[in-house]
Amino acid sequence: MNKQTMIEHLNEDLAGELSAIIQYLTYAAKATGPYRPQLAQFFLTEVADEQLHAQFLANKIVALGGEPVTTPRPVAVARTNREMLEAVLAAERRATADYTQRAREADEMGDKGLAVQLEDMVRDESGHSEETERMLQDWPPRTSGPFRPPDVPAAPILFHSCKEESPMPENLHPLFVHFPIALLLSSVALSWAGRFWPGKGLDQAAWYTLLLGLAGTVVTLLSGFVAAQGVPADSPAMATLNIHRALGIATFVIFGALAIWNWRSKGAISGNGRLFFTIIQIVGVALIVAVGFYGGELVYTFGVGVVAAVP
Ligand SMILES: [Fe+2]
Ligand SMILES: [Fe+2]
Repeated sequence: MNKQTMIEHLNEDLAGELSAIIQYLTYAAKATGPYRPQLAQFFLTEVADEQLHAQFLANKIVALGGEPVTTPRPVAVARTNREMLEAVLAAERRATADYTQRAREADEMGDKGLAVQLEDMVRDESGHSEETERMLQDWPPRTSGPFRPPDVPAAPILFHSCKEESPMPENLHPLFVHFPIALLLSSVALSWAGRFWPGKGLDQAAWYTLLLGLAGTVVTLLSGFVAAQGVPADSPAMATLNIHRALGIATFVIFGALAIWNWRSKGAISGNGRLFFTIIQIVGVALIVAVGFYGGELVYTFGVGVVAAVP
């Protein structure tokens, strides 16, 4: 462990602390319901600790000859009290693990003072996460955010951000996405295979798979438009959502164009037309990969439609 690597690692930790300060400030403002006073108080108390951590890290980075970062790590999106506590727990657990590792690295580097300070920070962060864990333990499992007395039945709304109140799924988009991915890719593969082994009915299989894939794309797009309604307009996921949607529509247009072309030429495309057709197929495959990638980003990076599991 050399000095430069240590500076880089401490800067990653500093970005985490800056993010924690923003997270706690924002969540304190967003807490709702009868527990708002306690929650806001809890979140604001943490800010002071995280600020001291950030201050220490920035000083140490400068002392080691580095430049402290000023950009925080992204703050997790959380809409309800429960989601906020879960996001806090995840961040605090990560901080505990990071500082445990960092204290070891400081020891290796021979900086005992830093190691001891980092161990103190491990104690602080694990205290934060234990406190949050205990709050979540008795948190009502299916209610959060605005208070609803238990005797009032939850409205069974299907396509809305009501996953904690309703037993119905948040949206059906994740179910349908598999159809266009599997069918459109299969149609391209079958069409290419048909060129190598003509007369085996592969072209026909490609044609029907393409039609089924297009039908699947229509349903996927529609369910996607509905699911997008559940994402708040000011969500940081919005930019990615817009790209995902645009790519989804482009996928439909490209494969729709291939279907029309194939239908009008009665499957008999040759010469330069065949080459151009293949290029459009490659573009279509790339679009499917891209739309899937951005869909994955929405779920795995931004947590759209996801309720975190709390062990
Ligand atoms: Fe901290
Ligand atoms: Fe903390």
